[in-house]
Amino acid sequence: MLAGRRILLIISGSVAAFKALELTRLLRRDGAAVTAILTAAGARFVTREALAAITGSRVHDDLWAAEAEIGHIRLARLPELVVVAPASADILAKMAHGLADDLASTVLLATRAPILVAPAMNPAMWEHPATQANMSALRMRGVRVVGPNEGAMAEPESGPGRLAEPAEIQAMVHALLAEEAPLAGRHAIVTSGPTHEPIDPVRYIANRSSGKQGHAIAAALHALGARVTLVSGPVALPDPPGVTVRHVETAREMLAACEAALPADIAVMAAAVADWRVAREATQKLKKEAGAAPPALSMALNPDILASIAAHPVQRPALVVGFAAETEKVVEHATAKRIRKGCDWIVANDVSGDVMGGDANRVQLITEDGVEDWPRMPKEEVARHLALRIATRFAP
Ligand code: CTP
Repeated sequence: MLAGRRILLIISGSVAAFKALELTRLLRRDGAAVTAILTAAGARFVTREALAAITGSRVHDDLWAAEAEIGHIRLARLPELVVVAPASADILAKMAHGLADDLASTVLLATRAPILVAPAMNPAMWEHPATQANMSALRMRGVRVVGPNEGAMAEPESGPGRLAEPAEIQAMVHALLAEEAPLAGRHAIVTSGPTHEPIDPVRYIANRSSGKQGHAIAAALHALGARVTLVSGPVALPDPPGVTVRHVETAREMLAACEAALPADIAVMAAAVADWRVAREATQKLKKEAGAAPPALSMALNPDILASIAAHPVQRPALVVGFAAETEKVVEHATAKRIRKGCDWIVANDVSGDVMGGDANRVQLITEDGVEDWPRMPKEEVARHLALRIATRFAP
């Protein structure tokens, strides 16, 4: 039931707009409070009067009138969920590019509520690379999508483009509003920071990783409702609130802590794990003997935590995400690393610049479906994007 839940329904221009009336009827029957915005093109297919009668409240259709009476910002803040049904190619393009030239697009830009779109258009328009690129951008930002379906259209053409049925959209609304947070009930293990590999009781081998990226990912997954175990090497950062933190020093301790944290649905391995350790750690501080040569360190290979978790025989998390720190041929090396390590996704970053220890990151996400090029952004934003992509992957 949706008793008292606040839904803003945006109806854009499509011959399928009449189905929005049936959707409204279903949502109201479930107890939802539905406010409607009709775009100029939408008004060619359904009337304000019909919509007002079925929502039981006045329909908003004018940016400037709304400004005077209720304000587009208030309209954007009120709903718990914004549903765009039908969503035309035009409104999806506006959303993807952040245009705000009418009431609907302005509210869509101003709202912080989750957004569900139900695309409806001619199959050629749906399949056009421009629309598909817009859809990828919207999905990446966490916009949820229902349909379009295949089937007969108003035009003598068939293919994907038909608006999802009102009952399907209604079911998706129920699922989205039921989700307090999209990753609620999921457990994520995140590794972060460097490892320290001891030489003797006072000396160790380390690297420049600050842990900023891994810690931000742990916080972002927690913000979406996941239970998070952060396995962190030595860093100068505070523990993220609400996250269970296991502090470790060496790669072997990190692996043990990850294994102890299983089972998990998600593993994100952002730590810069030392590939090698000193084969025999001295139990006493190494001393300079007068005239003696400097000690030669013989190294041993550390376990690969990412590969071990990805190959876990019984408790492999459903989604294993690795990082690839590269200084050249970034995508090529990272693509090979994804396969070699058996992970599902890999976040590739070029660490030849100021990434290690810095605040910003420019990454490519390599998934089963190809390479996504993300713009340079603060590490917190990379974390939020990644968490949202993960939430989309676990979406019902
Ligand atoms: N990783 C790990 N355990 C290791 C080494 C790396 O879990 N012993 C993980 C990192 O956390 C990261 C991914 O593997 O998610 C790739 O790390 P990277 O340093 O880029 O790769 P390497 O395995 O060190 O490969 P190479 O040295 O060939 O670049």
